Amino acid sequence: MIDAEKFIIKAVDEIRREAGDRRVVMALSGGVDSSVCAALAASAIGDRLDPIYVNTGLMRKGETERISEIFGHLNLHVVDAREEFLSALKGIQDPEKKRKVIGERFIRVFEREAKRTKARILLQGTIYPDRIESEGGIKSHHNVGGMPLHMEFEKVIEPLRDLYKDEVRVLAGALDLPLEIQHRMPFPGPGLAVRVVGEVTPENIEVVRQANWIVESELVEQFDPWQCFAALLGLGTGVKGDNRVHGWVVGVRAVNSRDGMTADPIHIPWEVMDRIASRVTSEIPSVARVVYDITPKPPATIEYE
Ligand code: XMP
Repeated sequence: MIDAEKFIIKAVDEIRREAGDRRVVMALSGGVDSSVCAALAASAIGDRLDPIYVNTGLMRKGETERISEIFGHLNLHVVDAREEFLSALKGIQDPEKKRKVIGERFIRVFEREAKRTKARILLQGTIYPDRIESEGGIKSHHNVGGMPLHMEFEKVIEPLRDLYKDEVRVLAGALDLPLEIQHRMPFPGPGLAVRVVGEVTPENIEVVRQANWIVESELVEQFDPWQCFAALLGLGTGVKGDNRVHGWVVGVRAVNSRDGMTADPIHIPWEVMDRIASRVTSEIPSVARVVYDITPKPPATIEYE
């Protein structure tokens, strides 16, 4: 396991050396990787760090507010790009195309911000499994492949490039980041968009946001999963009151994993599943049924797209 103190000294030194007296910009999502990066950079270069949080409209319930609170002291700049992302996604069904559109939008927003801050250096929280999956062409991780290629930064710094997620969590503890950040589940860069199979609309994003909130509130504390979430899988028939209705089929996923490259579904007791099904269908009127996904990775992926 990683020697946190040693790593932190080395990484802070690297960032300071690489940055020189220039400004450094980074996308801070509030995930453990980017949060650790921000903490390292803040202690290396202080207020020459410009952390940007992009509210894509694809974030979980309360996430933007919470991240703004936690990182307010770092001069965090919150960009409201909800309209921009949701209109770019209009009419797009294909999963890879959705990822590309989100990645491109993200680059555009980020380019504007980098220009505004006059930063010449980009800091990224890329970790080892991100590099492996991107290089292998498994999917386009928007936070790895695209950004540096399209933007004219003098330099890209990736202090966590050789680490696994569990090592990053150890660093988060050593850096005294809040517990909720240390234990934060991975959340994909394209956000809730990859938890809606098919076209994303403002309405269905609201439904999946609410379903994710319920699933997290039922499972996170009790099972401490690598990840748990809800996704909209399509439409199916249900009965609500006296009527047959066509409503959403919500898939619930809860998995354990070391690095996201393989994963095993968690054995959730029936009573808990029962409560999730009844809460999701009663608290969200447009949901007709709830299913639990028991597929490991491989052959399935963790996310639905
Ligand atoms: P999959 O679905 O490929 O996901 O089994 C493996 C892990 O990666 C997360 N994930 C992403 N993370 N940008 C990210 O930063 C992305 O585009 C992305 N896609 C998936 C996923 O949540 C899981 O932890």
